[in-house]
Amino acid sequence: TPSAVASKSNQSFIDRMKNENRQVLIMYGSQTGTAEEMSGRLAKDLTRYSKKAVVVDPEDIEVEDLARLTEVEDALLVLCMATYGEGDPTDNAVTLVEYLNAGDCDLSGVRFAVFGLGNKTYEHFNEIGIQMDKQLEKLGAKRIFHLGLGDDDANLEEDFMIWREAFLPKVAEEFGWELNTEAETMRQYQLEPVEEGKALFKGEFGRLGAYERPRPPFDVKNPYLATVAINDELHTEHSDRSCRHIEFSVEGSRIRYEAGDHLAVFPTNDSALVDRLISILDFEPDRAFRLVNVDEDASKRHPFPCPTTFRTALSHYVDICAPVKSHVLKAISEYCTDESEKEYLNKLSVANEEGLKEYARYIVKERRSIVDVLTDQKTCKPPIEYLLELLPRLQARYYSIASSPRVNEEKIAVCAVVTKYTIGDRLINGVCTRYLTTKDAGSKSPVFVRKSTMRLPHRTTTQVIMIGPGTGFAPFRGFLQDRQFHKNAGKEVGAMHLYYGCRHPDHDYIYKEELEKFQEDGVLTHLNCAFSRAQEKKIYVQDRLWETRDRIWESINAGAHVYICGDARNMARDVQATLQKIFREVGGKSETDAVAYFKDMEKTKRYQADVWS
Ligand code: 2AM
Repeated sequence: TPSAVASKSNQSFIDRMKNENRQVLIMYGSQTGTAEEMSGRLAKDLTRYSKKAVVVDPEDIEVEDLARLTEVEDALLVLCMATYGEGDPTDNAVTLVEYLNAGDCDLSGVRFAVFGLGNKTYEHFNEIGIQMDKQLEKLGAKRIFHLGLGDDDANLEEDFMIWREAFLPKVAEEFGWELNTEAETMRQYQLEPVEEGKALFKGEFGRLGAYERPRPPFDVKNPYLATVAINDELHTEHSDRSCRHIEFSVEGSRIRYEAGDHLAVFPTNDSALVDRLISILDFEPDRAFRLVNVDEDASKRHPFPCPTTFRTALSHYVDICAPVKSHVLKAISEYCTDESEKEYLNKLSVANEEGLKEYARYIVKERRSIVDVLTDQKTCKPPIEYLLELLPRLQARYYSIASSPRVNEEKIAVCAVVTKYTIGDRLINGVCTRYLTTKDAGSKSPVFVRKSTMRLPHRTTTQVIMIGPGTGFAPFRGFLQDRQFHKNAGKEVGAMHLYYGCRHPDHDYIYKEELEKFQEDGVLTHLNCAFSRAQEKKIYVQDRLWETRDRIWESINAGAHVYICGDARNMARDVQATLQKIFREVGGKSETDAVAYFKDMEKTKRYQADVWS
């Protein structure tokens, strides 16, 4: 009855644990859904021992309630925590992390384990996971399994597989749980056909008809259906790649943004891939259905917006392009009629040396999606509704905004290099950049603005140094437009130094004319370009930094703010090293002082990064 549902949602998660006899609490800090998905998998694992967990998004609860976890008998707290950006918690976990770090709650008697999700290309690798693991112990909880440090730069799935495989038996041993051998093949959702005439979700997220009747605020659960105003090519005909400049109109939406923010774009899967799945698995694509959680007390009723059709779910709600997760391989292996195919998929899903090695090759290195695996393993025919339960949710992609509201507050620009390459005879397309290439002016796409902390200095007179090769230039286009606006309004503006890099001036030099115009107008005072493939020897932005080291040091010394945007793997590191070298060799600092000076710039926000890998 509706009233029962209402009272359930008002109930604290602690009461649910007590009333429904669930001793395990799993919480996640998730930005792109991976930690959330892993939490779900851990919860499902527990069914092997006939145990139930409560999986909680810390954003949905009163974090203070966590102190009452000691009231639950034999409580186990599992945190799956991603580290985001510069060592920060994900948006949904900010309050939780602050609360635990404040140190006011006593968790004596609670047992815990933490799995961290991070990326080694970033400086603060797994900062949040490490912090929480230490902090829970400080709060009196007992660690029953070692901290997992997942590295998305190498093989996050493998790290998780290894951790999880050893974690479960350890937990069972700790609590004396017994294995329930029948639980292995248990499904979480049940397919219910939906009668004709019922309103169906057609790609929207929060509520039915959300795009026809938009209602702010717009966020990850409620994006705004923007109209594409411009979709232009930025590379010349000499380039073998494509880079798109796209402007979204948000007129009338009341969406606000600032230069430095990010735009989230919700892609749709390639219809050719959806069609391939339909033909491989042979189901009626336009049938309406609902997937309902068999655990009636679970907080998540459906895996994605329901009711909907198979085709809509495959197009909008599940990821059919990502490398297949190990538990999916295990689950679908049951549906091979050929024994050797079944054995092979099984092997891939086991966290032993042989399995991990084969998984790393076949799935990760050669990037096989569910479509590829089902094409390869010809007798593997899982029911479509089971596949929909197993696949991860399709996630929004984030782009650095390449415009300023001071020029046009109703248009938001992004730029992106289209990801496209082949492995063997398979063409691999980036999910979102492929989607964007199909979005001609006038078409629509769900978006929302994610606030960032990267901002121009308050004073328009403060100098800024911007380092942004490739599409790393994006936020700086917004910065330049901002300053241009202030200059036009008669304000005094400080020097702007740009370090831009690309392969060749005639191929992939994006926004060239605009940069020249900013120069002419005296907004961009120092333009330094590094063309890596226009001559014998590679020249990179850090080489230009070093060449102009005297001026760089002088500006930084005079209080300039330094911004870096683009590739985190190599560029950001090399640039940081060059800056510290300048601090030493021009600034006369010792090795330790140079590092300390850099850290201080970071702390005082005089060095800000927007880097990705
Ligand atoms: P490359 O691909 O020719 O090596 C934008 O992608 C520009 O960044 C390209 O010119 C690219 O050069 C360059 N780039 C690649 N690695 C870099 C690094 N470690 N530091 C700075 N720039 C780099």
